[in-house]
Amino acid sequence: MILDMKQITISVNNTILVEDFFLQIASGELVALVGASGSGKSILAHSIMGIAPKNVVCQGEIRYQGEPLTKEKKRDVLGKEIVLVPQNISYLDPLMKVGRQVAKGKKDKISMEKVTKLFQKYNMHSSVMQRYPHMLSGGMARRVFIASALMEQPRLVIADEPTPGLHKEMAQMVVSHFREMAQMGAGVLMITHDLELAMDCADKIIVLYGGKIMEQTNAKSFQSENTLYHPYTKALWKAMPQNGFHTTSVTHPSKTGCPFLKGCTKSKKECMKNIIPYFQKENSIIRCIDAGGKEICF
Ligand SMILES: Nc1ncnc2c1ncn2[C@@H]1O[C@H](COP(=O)(O)OP(=O)(O)O)[C@@H](O)[C@H]1O
Ligand SMILES: [Mg+2]
Repeated sequence: MILDMKQITISVNNTILVEDFFLQIASGELVALVGASGSGKSILAHSIMGIAPKNVVCQGEIRYQGEPLTKEKKRDVLGKEIVLVPQNISYLDPLMKVGRQVAKGKKDKISMEKVTKLFQKYNMHSSVMQRYPHMLSGGMARRVFIASALMEQPRLVIADEPTPGLHKEMAQMVVSHFREMAQMGAGVLMITHDLELAMDCADKIIVLYGGKIMEQTNAKSFQSENTLYHPYTKALWKAMPQNGFHTTSVTHPSKTGCPFLKGCTKSKKECMKNIIPYFQKENSIIRCIDAGGKEICF
């Protein structure tokens, strides 16, 4: 297992943002973490990388290739074996030309050729290497991040919403490169709010809502409503264009009990309890007392 996270709770000033999260990524696997804006995706990515703000407390177990991912270990592997494709342009150094940032301080001929090739691969003229971050469009900045991730041979790639701002073909190309990285043996975590994109490229999909995992299942399960078990996942499925755009009126997740309490037609008293266990059913793990299946603990 490349990444193994268990019982992860992330809080800020005693407010819980992410609760009882788990994630397993094997070599060669692309896992999509899907969730609406504000569901806690970025804070999770930043907590793995150890770049969350100081007031963010992350508790639980994070193992990388079988070993605890300690601060010391992070110092060795971050940016090399574990790379982040960040969501926000502010992660680029504003004072350094982007070509140098992608080269990561290397100046030898082979590295420079690699940088040039990567810029070409992502349809950026070599003159873009001489630009500073503020001179890039949003889509270009994203391509620079991806080029930067590919400079090394990462074992684990965490891509935080890598496709917004890119037109469809470029988005598909970016995704195909993440797939390629997985084929070469890396584990890839792709964070997105685009369920369709996740269905296209992922092996496994984790659906996050209000900081809690609602369901983890194979991407294939999304081909039919019958192979999805959580009412929230089913609602997401029904809201997709090809399934009729049926939207539920609930927008804000409930803070106590199941986050989907208010939108669920099946909710009962027990759904208001704060601790709702996970249930395993076939290839899915569901956090719903109505789902059936076998209760499991991590
Ligand atoms: N440093 C922080 N301090 C307080 N709240 C935060 C902080 N970072 C994120 N949050 C809150 O945590 C929630 C999840 O944020 P985020 O991980 O950015 O969501 P997503 O990436 O899924 O859109 C949001 O409600 C956000 O306001
Ligand atoms: Mg985010």
